[in-house]
Amino acid sequence: MITLRDAEAKKDMQITALVDSAEARAYGEKKDKYMLSLVVVMPGGQKIGAVHWNVEPDKANGMAGRVITAMATVGTYKESLQLTLNGIKYSKIEDVSNYAKRSVRDPLDAVGDIIGRTSHIVDGYLRGIVQKFVHDKSFEKFAQYPAGTSWHHSRVGGLAEHTLQVVTTSLQLVDEFAHLNPAPNRDLVLAGAILHDVGKLRELTPFPFQYTDEGCLLGHQLLGVQMIADRAGVPTNPTERLKYLHLLHIVAASHDTFGQSPVVAKTVEAMIVHQADLASSRTDGIIMEVQKGLEQDPGATCLGWSNKLARKPFVTPDFPADQSPKENRDVPASASTAEDDSLPY
Ligand SMILES: [Fe+2]
Ligand SMILES: [Fe+2]
Repeated sequence: MITLRDAEAKKDMQITALVDSAEARAYGEKKDKYMLSLVVVMPGGQKIGAVHWNVEPDKANGMAGRVITAMATVGTYKESLQLTLNGIKYSKIEDVSNYAKRSVRDPLDAVGDIIGRTSHIVDGYLRGIVQKFVHDKSFEKFAQYPAGTSWHHSRVGGLAEHTLQVVTTSLQLVDEFAHLNPAPNRDLVLAGAILHDVGKLRELTPFPFQYTDEGCLLGHQLLGVQMIADRAGVPTNPTERLKYLHLLHIVAASHDTFGQSPVVAKTVEAMIVHQADLASSRTDGIIMEVQKGLEQDPGATCLGWSNKLARKPFVTPDFPADQSPKENRDVPASASTAEDDSLPY
């Protein structure tokens, strides 16, 4: 692991790293010189920004996804680690799997859990659509995919982990609102949560994680809608057609923001899946940024600026166990009423 201590010492080291992205940028007064701006992945998955000065303008072509060796001086840029590279050479290493971050939970186990959940869909039509996906051999790819290239769950198994979180959180919300009228439709929520990111199988690649052309141009919600439509076919039965449209709507509206979704959430079920998606992605996003900050600066509390979060994440300490007697922690049931009534919500 390369840390800020190495940067303070301006340490020089020979590195072998996978190129995650590479771009040539013009610099100098006349903008007639070029530098390489890279993100490299160290063995074990640590991602670090890197630069290589004075290169040919086409130097970045074909670098992404390849393993390089180089001499690196460790420094910082905008409070984050940055490597200044020299003598970049392509390495013969072709197996890049040890550069990938992986889910702590066994991805195949998570996929098995998702498949098991499909039998809880009571509605035969919706269950049939979802099972067309999960019983397809290619569904095991779920275990290899991330849920994002860099923001949340960007690790092998991340898509299965995220999907399960969205399923369980969505069902908890269904239970919380089950007493209201109209109550959320549990089967629609479950089917929608399982399939809400299925389009990522076409939007992204397995490690090294990149966007595909169709992923860049269409996004995973439209691709997911297309995949469901291809598998389900448009039903002629009016009731099934309505269920089909509601399921597609959950997938299409899962980000509930124009610019991030082709349509905003218009149904209770789509709003539930969207909120569960947000909870899973944002929580994992901040955990990943804290992990990244601690990789750079082990033991730090106030971490460096995170562009992704637009804030400086702060590390919660491991508080020692509270040793106070249990009776001091019990709140009498009657203590809640009068003061709680004055709360705004
Ligand atoms: Fe999504
Ligand atoms: Fe998602």
